[in-house]
Amino acid sequence: MKQNKYDDDTFFNKYSNMDRSKNGLEGAGEWHELKNMLPDFKDKRVLDLGCGFGWHCRYAVENGARSVIGIDISQKMLSEAKSKTKCGNIEYICMPIEDIDFPEESFDVVISSLALHYIKSFEDVLDRVYKCLSRGGDFIFSVEHPIFTAQGPQDWYYDDKGNILHWPVDHYFTEGIRNAKFLGEEVIKYHRTLTTYLNSLIKIGFEITGVFEPKPEENLLNRVPGMRDELRRPMMLLVSARKKLY
Ligand SMILES: C[S@@+](CC[C@H](N)C(=O)[O-])C[C@H]1O[C@@H](n2cnc3c(N)ncnc32)[C@H](O)[C@@H]1O
Repeated sequence: MKQNKYDDDTFFNKYSNMDRSKNGLEGAGEWHELKNMLPDFKDKRVLDLGCGFGWHCRYAVENGARSVIGIDISQKMLSEAKSKTKCGNIEYICMPIEDIDFPEESFDVVISSLALHYIKSFEDVLDRVYKCLSRGGDFIFSVEHPIFTAQGPQDWYYDDKGNILHWPVDHYFTEGIRNAKFLGEEVIKYHRTLTTYLNSLIKIGFEITGVFEPKPEENLLNRVPGMRDELRRPMMLLVSARKKLY
């Protein structure tokens, strides 16, 4: 069974109170880097995998996209997305990312922000993305960084006074399920190595056009409590890739 954590009331309420949920893209620590990796959206057909509140869908339309489909497994996330969306050319569909089966070459851009670490098989989703993307089309995604997902619980090691000692990295080469804690709640995530993320793209026929391990923007470092600790290890991995023309 696929996990649908974001429809859990407690988890949804906590997620809705995060800076990135209240302030949108500007409240997201990685946005200043991710934004630079996005292609020109003018007249493009866009698919957003795990669209959540739809911030990236609306950004695509505001920047000229012809049409956008945002998919998500969570009804709660989608109903918030719909209530925030005023334009007509975004369609939100409730479905798991694992089940996408769009016609060949039906999108020019596929984006996915912080959703693919919830997916068991990256390779399977990649097959589906590759198929529905036009030749020369762009696939841009962010995931939790393999250094962040490796150990499992996703927490620092502390001394007996509660000060941070270090971030644990263990079982790096053992890919698969992790029982993580996010917002104080149990969440299932999947760990993959950097090699798997990058080589899977190359193997299927993508050309990698960018790889970033973002640090939070200066103003967030000062404004958001705990953000400075994000300079101690990478939390996210951002990748852009292009489906080869031949
Ligand atoms: C961290 S949120 C990110 C939301 C949005 N992409 C953003 O960056 O603002 C992760 C989203 O992925 C969705 N998600 C998780 N697993 C999914 C799956 N198997 N299929 C579709 N959506 C999924 C969740 O419901 C949630 O909306």
